[in-house]
This record gives sequence, C-alpha cells and structure tokens, in this order.
Amino acid sequence: MNRALFLKQYSPTWLGQIIECHQSLPSTNNQARDLLDQLGSAAHGAVVMAEEQTGGRGRHGRPWHSPRGLGLALSVALWNDGPADRAVCLPLAGSLAVLRALHHSAGLRGRLKWPNDVLVGGKKVSGVLVESRVQGGRPSGLVLGIGVNLLHREEDFPEDLRSFATSVRLAGGRPVTEEAFAASLLVALSPLIEEGLMNPAALVEMASGTWAHEPGDLLDVSSGEEILRGAFAGIAPDGSLLLKVDGHVQAVHHGDVTRVRPGSPRAGMLAKEEKRGS
Ligand code: BTN
Repeated sequence: MNRALFLKQYSPTWLGQIIECHQSLPSTNNQARDLLDQLGSAAHGAVVMAEEQTGGRGRHGRPWHSPRGLGLALSVALWNDGPADRAVCLPLAGSLAVLRALHHSAGLRGRLKWPNDVLVGGKKVSGVLVESRVQGGRPSGLVLGIGVNLLHREEDFPEDLRSFATSVRLAGGRPVTEEAFAASLLVALSPLIEEGLMNPAALVEMASGTWAHEPGDLLDVSSGEEILRGAFAGIAPDGSLLLKVDGHVQAVHHGDVTRVRPGSPRAGMLAKEEKRGS
C-alpha cells in the first residue's frame, strides 16, 4: 500500500484523521485496538491498512488469509462510550460499503450473504469482523475490520477455500489497485457509519434488494453446535435473519448461513446479474 498514492485518491474526513499503512501486521484489527488503548477518543476514525497479515482473524475464530499484495486488509478504530448496541449497525455498514466500492471501482455487482459476507458470482470476496473493546467492564471502543480479495488467483487460496472464495480478478472485475479500492471503500463507509449509528434500521432498508437470499430459499444456519434449517423470510429492521421454521417465523441474531438451496432458478439469475457492468 503506497500511502502517497492512496492519499491522492482519498481526502480524509473524520474517517482517516490517522492513517497507518503497514507492510505486514499480525492483524489490522489488533493494531486499531492498540490505537484505541494508546489514544482513547483521539483514535476515533483511525484507519489501519496492511499489505499482509500474518494472523488475520475471521468470524468465529476462523483465520483470514491475507497474503502480501493480493487483497485489502483494513480496520477502522471507533470510539464508543455509549451503549454497546451501537455496534449492531457496523457489520452491515462495512459490507454495504464493500458492495458500493466493488461496483464503483471494479464494475462488479455483489450480493450480501447474511450476516455480512459479500459474494460475487455466489463466492465470497469479502468478510467483515467487528470487535468491541471493553475496559473496566464498560464498552469503550469498536474495531471494524474489512478484508477484500482483490488480485487472488485460484492457487492463492488454501485448497479447502477454492470452491467458496473469489477475488475481484477472478470475478472478472476491472483491474483495481489496493489504493484505489481502499479510497473508494472509505468514501462509501463514512456516511454509512454515520447514518447507521443514528438509525441502524436505515442501513437494513438500504440493503434490501442486495441479499443473496430470496424469500423461500432453504437455509441452514449454524450457531455453535446447533443447525437451524428454515426458509428465508427476510431481514428484520434490527438486522436479524427471519427464518420460517415449521410454519413459524423466528428471528436469528447470530450464526452462519451454511447452505442455500442449490440449483434454484434464482441462483442462475444472480450469477448473470453479478457479471461486470450490470
Ligand atoms: C470473516 O468473513 O470471517 C471476517 C473476515 C474479516 C477479515 C478482516 S481483514 C482486516 C481485519 N483484520 C483482521 O484480522 N480481520 C479483519
């Protein structure tokens, strides 16, 4: 990540008062949390990026692979001494910003997979991890981490991920540099965070029409050991997944969608729609 090149394309607002570009870090989320530890509220809006992460984290303790120069690993530090539930909007703000940046900078139309993965052509191109910082038993900061696969070829992904993961390059997007994508992402992210902190339901409204799931699609949602199977019935204003199980609609707040009914006519349609420029 070339800082000068990045700053030619992004004019910092409250987001980016501090910008750190590292060659290698264990995790940009750790570094953003360290900034909150060191600077407190002055770290609000700090952006940390790294060309490589040696211990990148995904949701549920999974690793996130960030080989050097192939993708974007970016974290934003946010000061929060208000209620902990302010964090609820952040994952969606992150994934909506990725959708916008994909379209704007690479000409790709992505879809959201609940809760906050971004898919192109049915495969994951980006993930979002929000972590809270607690001090003295009180929430006092949030870190919004976003990983985007930009230049990966198939062989750059671990073998077990190849059938699920993609990159802007593999999906046929316009070539985009890390700097340009990061700039486009932050331009999109800033108003989404501001709006989402005031009115999380507004983000859910903005996301409608961008979900990879269609009403009636059969989903398996795993949470720990449990797997809940049901039909997709929408997303509630608080961002929870609505699943129709045995004729009753349930709100699911956490989990991973592990299976979408394969081969539905909708799946084919989405793949066409997501092609470049649509
Ligand atoms: C997921 O899909 O499981 C979330 C992946 C989040 C990865 C990003 S990369 C930048 C930031 N630093 C990390 O260690 N993780 C997040």
